[in-house]
Amino acid sequence: MGTQETQPLDVASIREDFPILDRMVGGEIETPGEGSADTQPLVYLDNAATSQTPESVVESIVDYYYGYNSNVHRGIHHLSQEASVAYENAHDRVAEFIGADGREEIIFTKNTTESMNLVAYAWGLAELGPGDTVVLTEMEHHASLVTWQQIAKKTGASVEYIRVDDDGRLDMDHAADLIDDSTAMVSAVHVSNTLGTVVPAGELADLAHDHDAHVFIDGAQSVPTRPVDVGEIDADFFAFSGHKMLGPTGIGVLYGKQHLLEGMEPYLYGGEMIRSVTYDDSTWEDLPWKFEAGTPVIAQGIALEAAIDYLEEVGMANVQSHEELLAEYAYDRLSEFDDVEIYGPPGDDRGGLVAFNLDGVHAHDLSSILNDHGVAIRAGDHCTQPLHDKLGVPASTRASFYIYNTKSEIDALVDAVDDARQLFA
Ligand code: ALA
Repeated sequence: MGTQETQPLDVASIREDFPILDRMVGGEIETPGEGSADTQPLVYLDNAATSQTPESVVESIVDYYYGYNSNVHRGIHHLSQEASVAYENAHDRVAEFIGADGREEIIFTKNTTESMNLVAYAWGLAELGPGDTVVLTEMEHHASLVTWQQIAKKTGASVEYIRVDDDGRLDMDHAADLIDDSTAMVSAVHVSNTLGTVVPAGELADLAHDHDAHVFIDGAQSVPTRPVDVGEIDADFFAFSGHKMLGPTGIGVLYGKQHLLEGMEPYLYGGEMIRSVTYDDSTWEDLPWKFEAGTPVIAQGIALEAAIDYLEEVGMANVQSHEELLAEYAYDRLSEFDDVEIYGPPGDDRGGLVAFNLDGVHAHDLSSILNDHGVAIRAGDHCTQPLHDKLGVPASTRASFYIYNTKSEIDALVDAVDDARQLFA
């Protein structure tokens, strides 16, 4: 996307829309959501795993269930028509948000992983065979890595990995070497959920298309955090999840170019996705419904539209600059400790997350101490085990930021890390 003027976020006013950010955490876990005595204010820095949900999104779910809860595309009755219109419009809204040509290119799934599996099964099983390669990056999430690895095993295709260099950036010279006429699919993460690396998705798409290969971009960490235009990237397929962008769990999106989706067989069979059925054979509904078998994610899809409304009101360019501001601040503050190792590119060249380790302390132990301070981060391999193997560590601690986070919350993280340093010294 071109350079856009940005405005600093009014974080104090944004935070008023997220009641959960006022809660206390710690002490015994009794009733979820109620906390107990001996608690700390929540510092929520686990947004790359899941973001929090503003009141307007929760209200859209309440409005649906209290006002027009009904199945879609089945009933002539009034409620079913209302639900159908809202659900279909949600596809249009998503299409507009990511620069797709229309609802035909937008399939609602459960999450990014299901979107990836849909293409791997519906396109990959039919199109891949011995002699074909699927090119991934060394920083793929398991959603992409495991899926293509297993589909390759079923089809006889092989998988190759574009190197990540010592600075945590994708080695584009290596990409140009690997992608050749044997390449059938290039599937790459857009923003690494572990390194924070921003991958030049458009350049990868150009390389893939030069060799008549398709490109699938995993936008789970990019769509929530920056303006994304699938047409500008020229992605053939693109996936993301609602729950990382203020929406509910249980809704993911698969974008696919219409002509590619039209050429693919369904991934799941059943109700909703058929046009006609006899005892001998069936025909399929038009896009996108051909790929949405069974009762779809109605409430979640409608709520995703409300999440998009919220994000567009904030402005995606503003979201991106806030993410970058916090990432750089966190990177700089954590760099003050010479016993903290940070993974990925420099602070001024990354998405809004920082994964790190404290020398000699397992990420789970560090996470537990941070939790005692009310600081919620993710510890583990972040579904990138091979990347952690390459980094030479079993796990890392990851802080990830969103529109409601502040520099003072990063200070709280840094103070808690410092306490852990003293404790383990
Ligand atoms: N993929 C999500 C993460 O990175 C769950 O935390």
